[in-house]
Order: sequence, then structure tokens, then C-alpha cells
Amino acid sequence: MAEAGGQAGDVNLVLGREAIHMNDPAVTVFVCVSCRRRLGGSDETFDRPGPGLASSLRQKFQGSDVAIAEVDCLAVCTRPCTLALSAANKWTYLIGDLEPESHLDEIVATVKSFAASENGIVAWRERPSSFRKGVVARVPPRPTITEPIEP
Ligand code: FES
Repeated sequence: MAEAGGQAGDVNLVLGREAIHMNDPAVTVFVCVSCRRRLGGSDETFDRPGPGLASSLRQKFQGSDVAIAEVDCLAVCTRPCTLALSAANKWTYLIGDLEPESHLDEIVATVKSFAASENGIVAWRERPSSFRKGVVARVPPRPTITEPIEP
């Protein structure tokens, strides 16, 4: 799978474009701004829908505790547009096949449901169709060590 920009594993936040507004947001939405979406079935013509989606989400969540962070690749390049929902102590969702123009309201609803959830798992009945169809993966939160580790 081809990845755009940088090396695999790099977290290349695109700063300087109002990518992150808060030091400790409740939820961070990582939006891939490198995804290329083919236009008209041509391999030669494409656009990059991520920056527009990030901008729209930034407007929708302005003044909230949701941060929008632009990243160069989420390794789901064949399913543009892609984003990841992340928060402390919550499962992380990776979602693809998003159309910023027609799915914006559903994406906003998904982010709100994710933010309101206890552990990041959003009930199936609360998931908009773009969320149901677009989920690529979910990753559990990092475990918290509560017991001392015996040598
Ligand atoms: S370019 Fe790789 S996920 Fe967008």
C-alpha cells in the first residue's frame, strides 16, 4: 500500500494551518489531507478532499473541546477520505470512504457520539451509515497499569 509523504509510522501533524487549537482536547479528529480521490473514474484526475473536510470540521467544532488535526497519511490510502477518532481511555476508530460534501453532518454526529460515549464504542443504532460502512479498524485504548509490576 502506497503511503503519501514521510515514512511509515511518522506522525506528521500539519501544523501552522490551525490544525490544533488546544493543548489537551477531549477528542482529537485526525484527518488525512493527503488522500487522493479519483474523479470521473480516471487514474489521471483526482482531488484531495481532506483539507476541505478538516476546514469544515474545524468550523463545526470551533469553541468546543474537539480538536481537528491534519495528518499526511493514515495508511488507508485506497479509501479516501479518511479520518481517525482518538481520545484518552477510549477506543480509536479509523474510518474511510468518507465524502466530505455529502457526509459532513454524519461525520459531525459520529464525532459527537464518540465524544459522549464512555469508552469510545458507539452503539450500532447511533452510527450513521457512513460510519457503519466506513469503519476500517478500531483499536483499544492503551491499558493503564494499576498494580505494581513484580520484578
Ligand atoms: S494518503 Fe494514506 S490514508 Fe490518506
